Amino acid sequence: MTADHGPRWLRWPSEPSRPRLAFGADYNPEQWPREVWQEDARAMRHAGVNIVSLAIFSWARLQPGPGRWTFGWLDEVMDLLHAYGIAVDLATATASPPPWLTARHPEVLPVDHDGRTLWPGGRQHWRPTSPIFREHALHLVRAMAERYGTHPALAAWHVSNELGCHNVYDYSGDAAAAFRAWLRTRYGTMEELNRAWATAFWSQAYGDWAEILPPRLAASYPNPTQQLDFKRFSSDALKDHLRAERSLLAELTPGVPVTTNFMVMGETKGMDYADWAGEVDFVSNDHYVLPGPQAQDELSFSANLTGWLAGGRPWFLMEHSTSAVNWQPVNVPKKPGGLARDSLTHVAYGADAVCFFQWRQSAGGAEKYHSAMVPHAGTDSEVFRSVAGLGATLEALAPVAGTRRRRAAAAIVFDWDSWWAAELDSHPTSRLRYRQEALDWYSAFAAAGVRADVIPAGESFEHYDLLVAPILHVVPGALAERLGAYVAGGGHLVTTYFSGIVDEHDHVWLGGYPGALRELLGIRIEEFGPLPGGDRAELDLGVAGTLWSDRIDVTEAGVEVVARYTSGDYAGRPAVTTRPAGTGSASYVSTRLGPDGLGPVLARLLARSGVRPELPAALAGRVELAVRAGEDADYWFLVNRTDEEVEVGEVAGEALPGPSLAAGRTLGPRQVRVLRRPA
Ligand code: GLA
Repeated sequence: MTADHGPRWLRWPSEPSRPRLAFGADYNPEQWPREVWQEDARAMRHAGVNIVSLAIFSWARLQPGPGRWTFGWLDEVMDLLHAYGIAVDLATATASPPPWLTARHPEVLPVDHDGRTLWPGGRQHWRPTSPIFREHALHLVRAMAERYGTHPALAAWHVSNELGCHNVYDYSGDAAAAFRAWLRTRYGTMEELNRAWATAFWSQAYGDWAEILPPRLAASYPNPTQQLDFKRFSSDALKDHLRAERSLLAELTPGVPVTTNFMVMGETKGMDYADWAGEVDFVSNDHYVLPGPQAQDELSFSANLTGWLAGGRPWFLMEHSTSAVNWQPVNVPKKPGGLARDSLTHVAYGADAVCFFQWRQSAGGAEKYHSAMVPHAGTDSEVFRSVAGLGATLEALAPVAGTRRRRAAAAIVFDWDSWWAAELDSHPTSRLRYRQEALDWYSAFAAAGVRADVIPAGESFEHYDLLVAPILHVVPGALAERLGAYVAGGGHLVTTYFSGIVDEHDHVWLGGYPGALRELLGIRIEEFGPLPGGDRAELDLGVAGTLWSDRIDVTEAGVEVVARYTSGDYAGRPAVTTRPAGTGSASYVSTRLGPDGLGPVLARLLARSGVRPELPAALAGRVELAVRAGEDADYWFLVNRTDEEVEVGEVAGEALPGPSLAAGRTLGPRQVRVLRRPA
């Protein structure tokens, strides 16, 4: 933990030690006349709201010009909320610079890889490395901290908003200068950089730091290590902004915890949150449901990973939606019960705060068709009634507050370096999707009714009997050693195609694939066999692979062939292998099997590792289990993943009451039940 004050939770203004879950939203009163504020506060109280995030996009309203400050309206809102017992997660308001700033200093605007300026008119149009932006932002942070640092409603600081949502990759002159400085720190000498970047290739050897640029639009494929380092640098540049705001807040208001909202969801991949998690007092996340057959699994996967980014401690769900969003091609509302199920799934994976974007649906602006707690229809609406029901439910779940995640026996390893490197261009296939492979394994675990944690690669592996590391592409020596020690210690490791291929510089481990893991797996691959278009490679388990296949030779005695290809170029050759090692094992899956195709492979891996479902077999695939561990009891969250009613039968435990929770022996469609089970 590098934050100035270790992990800390919200500072509740009243009854600070009373256990409770936080419930609320982004609140944007500046979009509404003053009369509405009173109405808002009353409706918030009615719905059980106890916290709001305020001032996220208020810079222009707070500082209408250089040296001009208009805090009066925010003073009034803060006081009003406090009078109603509602705490404030106060934004530093630096998320979107006002027009006067970008008009005076167009040099703060980001530039894309094609040299095009990203102009104002939307939001987040600032360069993470701009010294001018940083100066103005910190000026605002100071003003906010001095004005509100001792306000009784203040529960936490909310740095900026979704750092990197729109501006993670900036190719401007500022970015070039900062990238060079970052590279100097990383490599020290030109020789080291030239070696790491393999610049002997295509006449790219650099003689001076000043010659280096970000990977701007090039005549052909830009250097892959330059691209990978630019991704690392870009994540670090935003982290540096977070640290700058956080340090100033820590200096001015040391008693107030600081967070920023991550975006662990879908293909948002520019920020290495495993690396950022130590920078905040508590982890916060924003998550929006991505439609499709794996929607519920994707939500659960994201919540699960967020919980382990937080080290198993409680975290803050800063945003999700009550119903439709506005940024999909087609924005479908949630089904009845979907609002509560989504929220409670996050709680199941450790969220001690459930907040939405936003409190009141905007009448104007780009997000007016995005759902909110109070929809355009007003409080006399299904959405608002569901919101109030959820508020009462969260109140009833107060005993869960402060409890941690109960580890599963299995885990999926998630690694940003591998995500970034495996999806670079000039690869055997351009269709590989790192997160999708990890999600497919997660869905396969869910279908088998087995809990699996989703952990960052830095987490200790020793907790787990079964460890799946899908597409673990970047394997530096130290990681290979950790995996070897895990297997030697009796762990069961599983990895997949395109794993163990390169070191931290994206240089191939020589001698045959999967380089760094070749000996551990007891196999050797001379050539990859990516599968074009809709090509499938059948396996003798009755399932088919797509995307990838490998020509595998078994090189160690004792390696078992779990499945063979029965069609395609490698028919008759191994497709899935396991090398037993003492009481542990190392397995390899050479193709993309998808959530269903992974089923028979996972069944064998579960049997070998002795990992079993904790719920009755009849519930597998239909009811998801997540467990939180308290001091004297565990809390089992049973989530109906389906749109059908499910008979739960006898699962021991005392059911917690709550208007959004299922009681009795059945779970209605999308319903959740919470059971208290004395430890
Ligand atoms: C993000 C932002 C919010 C809002 C929502 C809409 O999460 O932080 O301000 O734009 O998306 O889904």
